[in-house]
Amino acid sequence: MRKYLAVAVLMVSALALAGGGETLWRALQQSMYAVNWHYVPGRPAGFYQGSEPHGAVLRTFVNNIAYDAIRAEAASYPEGAIIAKENYSADGQKLGAITVMKKIKGYDPEHGDWFWAKYGPDGKVLAAGKVAGCIACHAGAEEQDWVFSAKIK
Ligand code: HEC
Repeated sequence: MRKYLAVAVLMVSALALAGGGETLWRALQQSMYAVNWHYVPGRPAGFYQGSEPHGAVLRTFVNNIAYDAIRAEAASYPEGAIIAKENYSADGQKLGAITVMKKIKGYDPEHGDWFWAKYGPDGKVLAAGKVAGCIACHAGAEEQDWVFSAKIK
C-alpha cells in the first residue's frame, strides 16, 4: 500500500513540475518577451558572446519586476521576477535552448526561491523545477541572488 502511495506521490509531483514548466512557457510566449521586456542590465543589449554551458551566443531578457529590482539594487529579486535567456549556435542563427529562472517566494528558500526551467526551441520542457544541475552551478552567484549576469546590490 505504502509503495503504491509513494509511486502515486512521485507521479503527481512529476506531473506538477512538467505542468509548472509548461505554464511558464505559455506565459513567456504571451508576454512576447523578446519585444516587450528589457535586456538584462549588465550584459550588452541584443546578442552577446556566451560560454559553456549556455551556448556561444546569448540574448538575456528580464521582465519589469526583475529590471526594477536590478536598477534599484534591491539586494534580491521579488516574487514574480523572471529572467529568460536564449542560447544560440556560434553563428547566431540557430536557437538551441531557452533557460529561465522565475522567483516564487517560499518555493525553495535554501536556493533563493528560484524555479528553473529549460526548453527546446519548440517549447519542449527539458527540465523544470528545483533542477539540481542549475542550482549547483548558479550557487557560484549566490551573492547576487543566484544570478550571474546582473548586479543586484
Ligand atoms: C556550469 C554552470 C551553469 C549551469 C549548469 C547552468 N548555468 Fe545558467 N548561467 C551560467 C552562467 C555563467 C551564466 C551567465 C551567462 C552570461 O550572461 O554570460 C548563466 C546565466 C543564466 C541565466 C540568466 C541569468 C543569470 O544568471 O545571468 C539563466 C536564466 C540561467 N542561467 C538559467 C539556467 C538554468 C535553467 C539552468 C539549468 C537547466 C542553468 N542555468 C544551468 C552558468 C550555469
